[in-house]
Amino acid sequence: MSFVSQLECSVCSKRREAAQIHNLCECGGPLLVRYDLAAAQKSWTRDSLTTAPKSMWRYAPMLPVRDPAHVVSLGEGMTPLIHTARFGERLGAKNLWVKDEGVNPTGSFKARGLSCAISMCVELGLRKVAIASAGNAGSALAAYAAAAGLEAHIFMPRDVPQSNYTECRAYGAHVTLVDGLISDCARLIAERKDAEGWFDISTLKEPYRIEGKKTMGYEVAEQFGWTLPDAIFYPTGGGVGLIGMWKAFEEMEALGWISSQRPKMIAAQAEGCQPVVRAFEQGESKSAFWENAHTVAAGLRVPKPLGDALSLAAIRASGGTAVAVSDEELLDASIALAAATGVFPAPEGGACIAALSKLLANGFLHSDDRIVIYNTGTGLKYLEAFSTRFPRTSASEHDKLGGLITPR
Ligand SMILES: Cc1ncc(COP(=O)(O)O)c(C=O)c1O
Ligand SMILES: [Zn+2]
Repeated sequence: MSFVSQLECSVCSKRREAAQIHNLCECGGPLLVRYDLAAAQKSWTRDSLTTAPKSMWRYAPMLPVRDPAHVVSLGEGMTPLIHTARFGERLGAKNLWVKDEGVNPTGSFKARGLSCAISMCVELGLRKVAIASAGNAGSALAAYAAAAGLEAHIFMPRDVPQSNYTECRAYGAHVTLVDGLISDCARLIAERKDAEGWFDISTLKEPYRIEGKKTMGYEVAEQFGWTLPDAIFYPTGGGVGLIGMWKAFEEMEALGWISSQRPKMIAAQAEGCQPVVRAFEQGESKSAFWENAHTVAAGLRVPKPLGDALSLAAIRASGGTAVAVSDEELLDASIALAAATGVFPAPEGGACIAALSKLLANGFLHSDDRIVIYNTGTGLKYLEAFSTRFPRTSASEHDKLGGLITPR
């Protein structure tokens, strides 16, 4: 089933056995899963996908799970790629597409990474997992841990969207609300995980979530008939989806499935937390901690991403860029997309639309470029953020009004 061969450190290139439990390399670098691409090329063809499952597990030969019985799936992936012609025309992008990740289990693309990582926990015999999450990864972990019967420990900021907290509790996870950011949550796990026997499944601290997320790259190629768009907008918190898609493109080229053409990879961030944008603009290979991080796009509130060097390298190699937008801009853009297309995006998805407007205005992108926006979640998970735009009159005011018009 899987052509997995080894794990390789993304910093020092040291290789390790794949079928063992690993977190970071001793040099501190995130580990990446490598496959026997030469063997895969001989026996795994694009045509075989016509009979493959309609989920991200259609790409199982390029996923790390060896025994299909270990796969924990809730139907993640194979999300719609929607041509938003009228909306695109209005923005000045005639060939605009939205990859709608909001339809995934638990309402975000985080389902992909956690389906893969929890499957690997089952394969490796791990029973207790812990995660530091900005929100949606916690929800996805809670759901997949519930599906697999594992014990989940979730550390999230106290002001996380209510939906995320509610989901985690409903799925039976142990939730710790932290007065701080995702970086503080990560520290708490690091302090306690050995004593508690938790496997740390936080972003890039294990090699498998990125493998699930990379399937967003396989899918866009398959949905476009094995070609890639000119530009991809990705709302970048930890940057894992961006790094994962870049990895997927390399694998697909080695498999002989796509050419060497690559999209410009464009990171969208929020003005209140833009470490990757700042590092990109200053020509740095790594980001520096962003102080006082704040934005309603909770998934973008990552002040110091562990995978910053990998994201920045991919953005630069692709000829892409990094753009910050304000919370006002990203909420406006979210609502504009919803009203024009029927896709109600997460604010993170809205950030991509706002960033696109900027790059069309400054000529970085052109009206006939084929552009894909990753809407990484559904707006339904952010009711507090959107309610500021759609306040309701209170019941008592309504009653007063009703009383004036129709005496009762
Ligand atoms: C909806 C949403 N979009 C984007 C992100 C950022 O994802 P990544 O870590 O892959 O950059 C998150 C992370 O929490 C998220 O929840
Ligand atoms: Zn290393």
